[in-house]
Amino acid sequence: MEQITLYNGVEMPIVGYGVYQISKEECERCVMDALAVGYRSIDTAQSYFNEEQVGNAIAKSGIPRKDIFLTTKVWVEHYGYEKTKKSVLKSMQKLQTDYLDLVLLHQPFSDYYGAYRALEDLYDEGKLRAIGVSNFYPDRLVDIASFSRIKPMVNQIETHPFNQQIEAKKWMDRYGIQLEAWAPFGEGRGGLFENPVLVKIAKKYNKTTAQVILRWNIQRGIVVIPKSIHKERMEENLNIFDFVLEQSDINKITELDKKQSSFFSHSDPAVVEWFVQMIEERKEK
Ligand SMILES: NC(=O)c1ccc[n+]([C@@H]2O[C@H](COP(=O)([O-])OP(=O)(O)OC[C@H]3O[C@@H](n4cnc5c(N)ncnc54)[C@H](OP(=O)(O)O)[C@@H]3O)[C@@H](O)[C@H]2O)c1
Repeated sequence: MEQITLYNGVEMPIVGYGVYQISKEECERCVMDALAVGYRSIDTAQSYFNEEQVGNAIAKSGIPRKDIFLTTKVWVEHYGYEKTKKSVLKSMQKLQTDYLDLVLLHQPFSDYYGAYRALEDLYDEGKLRAIGVSNFYPDRLVDIASFSRIKPMVNQIETHPFNQQIEAKKWMDRYGIQLEAWAPFGEGRGGLFENPVLVKIAKKYNKTTAQVILRWNIQRGIVVIPKSIHKERMEENLNIFDFVLEQSDINKITELDKKQSSFFSHSDPAVVEWFVQMIEERKEK
């Protein structure tokens, strides 16, 4: 598996497996399948409510902990210094581990500075090998990179051919922050898998559109974490290291950029209100 190196020297697989929207019932089987076909990086979050199942699958797989790159994200409900520290330790318990490879702040809302200071201290204590953020648009990212003690190593944001994040990536490169793509397929929204430009390129390389999409992102130096509950698709999404997209094809994909989210904008106040409501609904009972 190809690795990228974060600015603190930690290596991270360029392809990982994401478990958002995988139910508790299915998650353990899915992560076991993902590990069996060769994934060595798993992306979960407190708000996915499946950390226990991820932990069980890793334990059952028999794969040494040190060979797996494990990421979780702190949910906004747990922001603030003390609450974040406590919640990360609880996540570790659920994941059956005494350290995490990467912990991200899930959203740029509420007391994320207090939360980030907790991550910095856990990093200093050696409990976290890398720390970062998610959904931080360039203005929020430059802010936290400038006023924190330890710059984020990773920013996980929506990135796929319809929302390529070219400007955002420039800012991340400037600060040495690794871009990690969430929804690398944009969950297939807007007909991404059937897009004629991508279909034609896929035929040329004898690959699938999914493989072309992932290959395009990793050739940009971007980490991808595709999700699938199907073992054959997990394999397909990993099988992207035996071809290289030519520049002319990359140029055609660049033209597909709509420069806007296929989901929602985190800087739209109505979306922020929606998040506030979601935080209330997802509160741990
Ligand atoms: N930080 C954040 O705020 C945030 C937000 C969203 C996601 N994420 C992370 O990013 C990961 C990936 O994003 P995502 O799950 O939202 O969406 P995604 O990976 O872009 O797309 C997943 C969808 O594509 C389908 N799919 C997967 N491989 C396929 C293939 N080879 N051919 C055709 N269809 C395929 C899946 O269906 P099947 O499962 O039925 O195969 C599923 O419907 C998440 O799991 C999570 O870890 C983070």
